[in-house]
Amino acid sequence: MRKLVGGNWKMNCRMETLRSLADLDARAFDGVDSFLAIPHVYIPICRDFLPESISVCAQDISEFESGAYTGEVGGAMLAEFGVRYAIIGHSERRANCGETNMQISQKLTSALKHSIQPILCIGEPAEVRVSKRHLGFLEEQFNECTDNMADVEIDVAYEPIWAIGASKTASREQICEVIQRIRTLMANRRIRGRVIYGGSVCRENAAEVAKIKGLDGVLVGNASLGRDFEDIACEFADA
Ligand code: PGA
Repeated sequence: MRKLVGGNWKMNCRMETLRSLADLDARAFDGVDSFLAIPHVYIPICRDFLPESISVCAQDISEFESGAYTGEVGGAMLAEFGVRYAIIGHSERRANCGETNMQISQKLTSALKHSIQPILCIGEPAEVRVSKRHLGFLEEQFNECTDNMADVEIDVAYEPIWAIGASKTASREQICEVIQRIRTLMANRRIRGRVIYGGSVCRENAAEVAKIKGLDGVLVGNASLGRDFEDIACEFADA
């Protein structure tokens, strides 16, 4: 299975950011599946700038199908603009927009309905990790988010909140322990998909992260905004 290297631009985008994609060496992405998660408003034009091999990802998807939901963007709309992936349940949306596991479960259902590949984000806060309750916490998050689902394909991103936008990633042991548990949880629900890691992956540590056994890829925030993203993709193509 090819590794998945996704970038999440968050709310860091202007036209000049899209124009800077012209600097990317498209061949760097030939050996992986890749996407960039771009703010909704830029989705219709981003294809003019993205290398062919990089898919378009949404940073969120509404749990509603259509109707009186001011400000929401639904799966049918995203699918019409060629969106292949959607990040669902990112910790920043859980924290800043109060997204609940139940809403996230509805968002997963909507993405699957519109043939958009969901990237479900789960991850524990620092205090849960420190008190060694992370496995139980992640199990509850995963099970509530995937309630009533079976025989579907969902990629799962383990993103410990304490490692996002930080100066270092989770350790190899920490990542290995969690990906093993996530695979068991997925198997229990007959959910297929990749298990990836996100949290301060950058050009400097990508080679180390790529060596982690059983890891199917990465979700990259800050370092996806420039040419470092290309170097990260190369590390995973070789892995
Ligand atoms: P970071 O973000 O790579 O900047 O830590 C990761 C993410 O939020 O997905």
